[in-house]
Amino acid sequence: MENDILKIENFYAYYDTICILNNINLKFKKNRAISILGPSGCGKTTLLRCINRMHELADEAFVKGKILLSDKDIYATEPMLIRRRIGMVFQNPNPFPTMNIYNNVIAGYKLNSIKLKRSESDKIVEESLIKADLWEQVRDNLYKRGTFLSGGQQQRLCIARALAMKPDILLLDEATASLDPKATSNIEKLIHQLKHSVTIIVVTHNIAQAARVSDYTAFLYSGELIEFGKTGDLFTTPKDKRTEEYLTGKFG
Ligand SMILES: Nc1ncnc2c1ncn2[C@@H]1O[C@H](COP(=O)(O)OP(=O)(O)O)[C@@H](O)[C@H]1O
Ligand SMILES: [Mg+2]
Repeated sequence: MENDILKIENFYAYYDTICILNNINLKFKKNRAISILGPSGCGKTTLLRCINRMHELADEAFVKGKILLSDKDIYATEPMLIRRRIGMVFQNPNPFPTMNIYNNVIAGYKLNSIKLKRSESDKIVEESLIKADLWEQVRDNLYKRGTFLSGGQQQRLCIARALAMKPDILLLDEATASLDPKATSNIEKLIHQLKHSVTIIVVTHNIAQAARVSDYTAFLYSGELIEFGKTGDLFTTPKDKRTEEYLTGKFG
Protein backbone atom coordinates (compact mmCIF):
# COMPACT_ATOMS: atom_id res chain seq x y z
CA MET A 1 0.00 0.00 0.00
CA GLU A 2 1.31 3.37 -0.97
CA ASN A 3 1.45 5.85 1.89
CA ASP A 4 -0.09 9.30 1.68
CA ILE A 5 2.58 11.92 2.23
CA LEU A 6 0.10 14.59 3.29
CA LYS A 7 -3.27 14.22 4.97
CA ILE A 8 -5.58 17.10 5.77
CA GLU A 9 -8.25 16.11 8.27
CA ASN A 10 -11.32 18.07 9.38
CA PHE A 11 -9.35 21.24 8.80
CA TYR A 12 -10.64 24.80 9.31
CA ALA A 13 -8.86 28.13 8.87
CA TYR A 14 -10.11 31.47 10.15
CA TYR A 15 -9.28 35.13 10.00
CA ASP A 16 -10.74 36.38 13.24
CA THR A 17 -14.29 35.02 13.21
CA ILE A 18 -14.48 34.53 9.44
CA CYS A 19 -14.20 30.92 8.34
CA ILE A 20 -11.97 30.78 5.22
CA LEU A 21 -11.53 27.01 4.97
CA ASN A 22 -14.44 24.91 6.09
CA ASN A 23 -13.81 21.30 7.08
CA ILE A 24 -11.27 20.31 4.44
CA ASN A 25 -10.37 16.62 4.07
CA LEU A 26 -7.72 15.65 1.51
CA LYS A 27 -5.02 13.01 1.07
CA PHE A 28 -2.07 13.34 -1.28
CA LYS A 29 0.12 10.52 -2.53
CA LYS A 30 3.88 10.91 -2.68
CA ASN A 31 5.56 12.13 -5.88
CA ARG A 32 2.47 13.26 -7.69
CA ALA A 33 1.46 16.69 -8.95
CA ILE A 34 -1.81 17.91 -7.46
CA SER A 35 -3.71 21.02 -8.51
CA ILE A 36 -5.85 23.10 -6.20
CA LEU A 37 -8.28 24.79 -8.54
CA GLY A 38 -10.97 27.34 -7.81
CA PRO A 39 -12.13 30.91 -8.36
CA SER A 40 -10.34 33.89 -6.88
CA GLY A 41 -10.96 34.23 -3.15
CA CYS A 42 -12.05 30.61 -2.59
CA GLY A 43 -9.18 29.91 -0.17
CA LYS A 44 -6.44 28.34 -2.31
CA THR A 45 -3.60 30.50 -0.99
CA THR A 46 -4.88 30.13 2.55
CA LEU A 47 -4.76 26.35 2.17
CA LEU A 48 -1.12 26.45 1.00
CA ARG A 49 -0.24 28.85 3.80
CA CYS A 50 -1.77 26.43 6.32
CA ILE A 51 0.24 23.55 4.84
CA ASN A 52 3.55 25.27 5.55
CA ARG A 53 2.41 27.06 8.71
CA MET A 54 2.38 30.57 7.38
CA HIS A 55 -1.32 31.28 7.87
CA GLU A 56 -0.84 31.56 11.63
CA LEU A 57 1.64 34.42 11.10
CA ALA A 58 -1.20 36.78 10.15
CA ASP A 59 -3.00 38.72 12.87
CA GLU A 60 -6.13 37.06 14.23
CA ALA A 61 -5.49 33.97 12.11
CA PHE A 62 -5.99 30.50 13.52
CA VAL A 63 -6.65 26.94 12.47
CA LYS A 64 -8.51 23.89 13.71
CA GLY A 65 -8.08 20.26 12.68
CA LYS A 66 -5.06 18.30 11.53
CA ILE A 67 -2.49 18.31 8.76
CA LEU A 68 -0.21 15.27 8.79
CA LEU A 69 3.10 15.11 6.93
CA SER A 70 4.18 11.46 6.72
CA ASP A 71 1.70 10.80 9.55
CA LYS A 72 3.21 13.48 11.82
CA ASP A 73 1.03 16.39 12.88
CA ILE A 74 2.66 19.51 11.42
CA TYR A 75 0.98 21.65 14.08
CA ALA A 76 2.81 19.66 16.76
CA THR A 77 6.20 20.31 15.11
CA GLU A 78 8.50 23.34 15.06
CA PRO A 79 7.25 25.64 12.22
CA MET A 80 10.80 26.17 10.91
CA LEU A 81 11.24 22.42 10.46
CA ILE A 82 7.96 22.24 8.55
CA ARG A 83 8.96 25.11 6.27
CA ARG A 84 12.17 23.25 5.44
CA ARG A 85 10.28 20.12 4.46
CA ILE A 86 7.51 22.00 2.66
CA GLY A 87 8.87 24.67 0.32
CA MET A 88 6.81 27.40 -1.26
CA VAL A 89 7.07 29.49 -4.42
CA PHE A 90 4.87 32.56 -4.84
CA GLN A 91 3.06 34.30 -7.67
CA ASN A 92 5.69 36.99 -8.21
CA PRO A 93 9.30 35.82 -8.42
CA ASN A 94 11.03 37.04 -5.26
CA PRO A 95 14.75 36.27 -5.30
CA PHE A 96 16.51 38.12 -2.48
CA PRO A 97 17.46 41.33 -4.30
CA THR A 98 20.76 41.95 -2.53
CA MET A 99 22.04 38.38 -2.97
CA ASN A 100 23.81 36.83 -5.91
CA ILE A 101 22.45 33.71 -7.59
CA TYR A 102 24.67 31.35 -5.57
CA ASN A 103 23.57 32.81 -2.23
CA ASN A 104 19.94 32.89 -3.28
CA VAL A 105 20.01 29.13 -3.86
CA ILE A 106 21.47 28.36 -0.43
CA ALA A 107 19.57 31.14 1.37
CA GLY A 108 17.44 28.61 3.27
CA TYR A 109 20.57 27.17 4.90
CA LYS A 110 21.83 30.61 5.90
CA LEU A 111 18.44 31.65 7.30
CA ASN A 112 18.32 28.44 9.31
CA SER A 113 21.96 28.90 10.44
CA ILE A 114 22.91 25.55 8.94
CA LYS A 115 26.65 25.53 8.30
CA LEU A 116 27.85 24.03 5.02
CA LYS A 117 31.38 23.32 3.81
CA ARG A 118 32.19 25.13 0.59
CA SER A 119 32.24 21.83 -1.33
CA GLU A 120 28.79 20.92 0.07
CA SER A 121 27.25 24.26 -0.80
CA ASP A 122 28.80 24.15 -4.31
CA LYS A 123 27.19 20.75 -4.80
CA ILE A 124 23.78 21.87 -3.51
CA VAL A 125 23.85 24.99 -5.71
CA GLU A 126 24.73 23.03 -8.83
CA GLU A 127 22.25 20.20 -8.18
CA SER A 128 19.40 22.57 -7.34
CA LEU A 129 19.98 24.74 -10.41
CA ILE A 130 20.18 21.62 -12.61
CA LYS A 131 16.87 20.38 -11.16
CA ALA A 132 15.29 23.79 -11.76
CA ASP A 133 16.59 23.69 -15.35
CA LEU A 134 18.60 26.87 -14.88
CA TRP A 135 22.18 25.66 -14.49
CA GLU A 136 23.25 25.97 -18.12
CA GLN A 137 21.98 29.54 -18.24
CA VAL A 138 23.61 30.82 -15.06
CA ARG A 139 26.67 28.62 -14.39
CA ASP A 140 29.01 31.40 -15.55
CA ASN A 141 27.11 34.11 -13.67
CA LEU A 142 26.65 32.62 -10.21
CA TYR A 143 28.00 35.72 -8.52
CA LYS A 144 25.69 38.14 -10.30
CA ARG A 145 22.49 39.24 -8.62
CA GLY A 146 19.45 37.08 -9.20
CA THR A 147 17.39 40.08 -10.15
CA PHE A 148 19.15 40.52 -13.52
CA LEU A 149 17.50 37.32 -14.76
CA SER A 150 14.27 37.25 -16.79
CA GLY A 151 10.98 36.71 -14.93
CA GLY A 152 10.83 33.03 -15.86
CA GLN A 153 14.47 32.50 -14.86
CA GLN A 154 13.87 34.30 -11.55
CA GLN A 155 10.96 31.99 -10.87
CA ARG A 156 13.17 28.97 -11.62
CA LEU A 157 15.75 30.45 -9.25
CA CYS A 158 13.04 30.57 -6.55
CA ILE A 159 12.23 26.93 -7.34
CA ALA A 160 15.95 26.08 -7.03
CA ARG A 161 16.04 27.90 -3.67
CA ALA A 162 13.11 25.80 -2.46
CA LEU A 163 14.59 22.55 -3.84
CA ALA A 164 17.96 23.26 -2.18
CA MET A 165 16.39 22.39 1.18
CA LYS A 166 15.47 18.94 -0.25
CA PRO A 167 11.81 19.34 0.66
CA ASP A 168 9.23 16.54 0.60
CA ILE A 169 6.62 18.89 -0.80
CA LEU A 170 6.83 21.90 -3.09
CA LEU A 171 3.94 24.38 -3.03
CA LEU A 172 3.52 26.60 -6.09
CA ASP A 173 1.02 29.43 -5.63
CA GLU A 174 -0.01 30.73 -9.07
CA ALA A 175 3.70 30.49 -9.86
CA THR A 176 3.24 31.18 -13.57
CA ALA A 177 0.62 33.94 -13.27
CA SER A 178 3.14 36.72 -13.94
CA LEU A 179 5.02 34.87 -16.71
CA ASP A 180 4.70 34.89 -20.49
CA PRO A 181 3.45 31.74 -22.31
CA LYS A 182 6.95 30.42 -23.10
CA ALA A 183 8.19 30.80 -19.52
CA THR A 184 4.91 29.29 -18.29
CA SER A 185 5.36 26.28 -20.53
CA ASN A 186 8.94 25.83 -19.25
CA ILE A 187 7.71 25.79 -15.65
CA GLU A 188 4.98 23.31 -16.56
CA LYS A 189 7.60 21.01 -18.13
CA LEU A 190 9.65 21.38 -14.99
CA ILE A 191 6.71 20.26 -12.84
CA HIS A 192 6.53 17.04 -14.89
CA GLN A 193 10.24 16.38 -14.26
CA LEU A 194 10.29 17.35 -10.60
CA LYS A 195 7.34 15.31 -9.42
CA HIS A 196 9.47 12.16 -9.63
CA SER A 197 11.44 13.38 -6.63
CA VAL A 198 9.11 15.79 -4.81
CA THR A 199 5.35 15.98 -4.30
CA ILE A 200 4.07 19.14 -5.96
CA ILE A 201 0.93 21.06 -5.04
CA VAL A 202 0.04 23.67 -7.63
CA VAL A 203 -2.50 26.37 -6.90
CA THR A 204 -4.05 27.84 -10.00
CA HIS A 205 -7.19 29.40 -11.34
CA ASN A 206 -6.03 28.36 -14.80
CA ILE A 207 -8.18 25.36 -15.68
CA ALA A 208 -6.07 24.35 -18.70
CA GLN A 209 -2.91 24.43 -16.60
CA ALA A 210 -4.43 22.13 -13.97
CA ALA A 211 -5.35 19.70 -16.76
CA ARG A 212 -1.83 19.83 -18.21
CA VAL A 213 0.28 19.47 -15.09
CA SER A 214 -1.56 17.51 -12.45
CA ASP A 215 -2.30 13.88 -11.68
CA TYR A 216 -4.99 14.85 -9.17
CA THR A 217 -7.15 17.94 -8.90
CA ALA A 218 -9.03 19.41 -5.95
CA PHE A 219 -11.79 21.92 -6.68
CA LEU A 220 -12.32 24.47 -3.93
CA TYR A 221 -15.26 26.81 -3.86
CA SER A 222 -16.04 29.35 -1.18
CA GLY A 223 -13.76 27.67 1.38
CA GLU A 224 -15.15 24.20 0.81
CA LEU A 225 -13.64 21.24 -0.95
CA ILE A 226 -16.24 20.42 -3.57
CA GLU A 227 -14.50 17.58 -5.32
CA PHE A 228 -11.16 15.76 -5.44
CA GLY A 229 -10.03 13.05 -7.81
CA LYS A 230 -7.81 12.02 -10.67
CA THR A 231 -7.49 15.00 -12.98
CA GLY A 232 -8.80 13.03 -15.98
CA ASP A 233 -11.88 11.84 -14.08
CA LEU A 234 -12.66 15.24 -12.59
CA PHE A 235 -12.39 16.95 -15.97
CA THR A 236 -14.37 14.37 -17.96
CA THR A 237 -16.97 13.32 -15.41
CA PRO A 238 -17.24 15.85 -12.59
CA LYS A 239 -19.56 14.60 -9.87
CA ASP A 240 -20.67 17.98 -8.57
CA LYS A 241 -22.63 20.47 -10.63
CA ARG A 242 -20.45 23.35 -9.34
CA THR A 243 -17.29 21.60 -10.57
CA GLU A 244 -18.86 21.09 -13.97
CA GLU A 245 -20.00 24.70 -14.18
CA TYR A 246 -16.58 25.99 -13.20
CA LEU A 247 -14.76 23.75 -15.66
CA THR A 248 -17.06 24.80 -18.49
CA GLY A 249 -16.47 28.47 -17.72
CA LYS A 250 -19.93 29.27 -16.33
CA PHE A 251 -18.26 31.21 -13.51
CA GLY A 252 -14.75 31.90 -12.47
N1 LIG B 1 -5.08 38.74 5.97
C1 LIG B 1 -6.38 38.50 5.72
N2 LIG B 1 -7.34 38.93 6.58
C2 LIG B 1 -8.65 38.67 6.36
N3 LIG B 1 -9.12 37.99 5.30
C3 LIG B 1 -8.22 37.53 4.41
C4 LIG B 1 -6.81 37.77 4.55
N4 LIG B 1 -6.17 37.18 3.50
C5 LIG B 1 -7.14 36.62 2.74
N5 LIG B 1 -8.37 36.83 3.27
C6 LIG B 1 -9.66 36.35 2.73
O1 LIG B 1 -9.63 34.95 2.69
C7 LIG B 1 -10.35 34.47 1.56
C8 LIG B 1 -9.51 33.49 0.79
O2 LIG B 1 -8.39 34.16 0.27
P1 LIG B 1 -7.24 33.39 -0.51
O3 LIG B 1 -6.87 32.17 0.25
O4 LIG B 1 -6.18 34.38 -0.80
O5 LIG B 1 -8.00 32.96 -1.86
P2 LIG B 1 -7.44 32.52 -3.29
O6 LIG B 1 -5.98 32.25 -3.15
O7 LIG B 1 -8.25 31.32 -3.66
O8 LIG B 1 -7.73 33.66 -4.22
C9 LIG B 1 -10.75 35.70 0.74
O9 LIG B 1 -12.11 35.99 1.01
C10 LIG B 1 -9.86 36.79 1.28
O10 LIG B 1 -10.47 38.03 1.20
MG1 LIG C 1 -4.33 33.09 -4.08
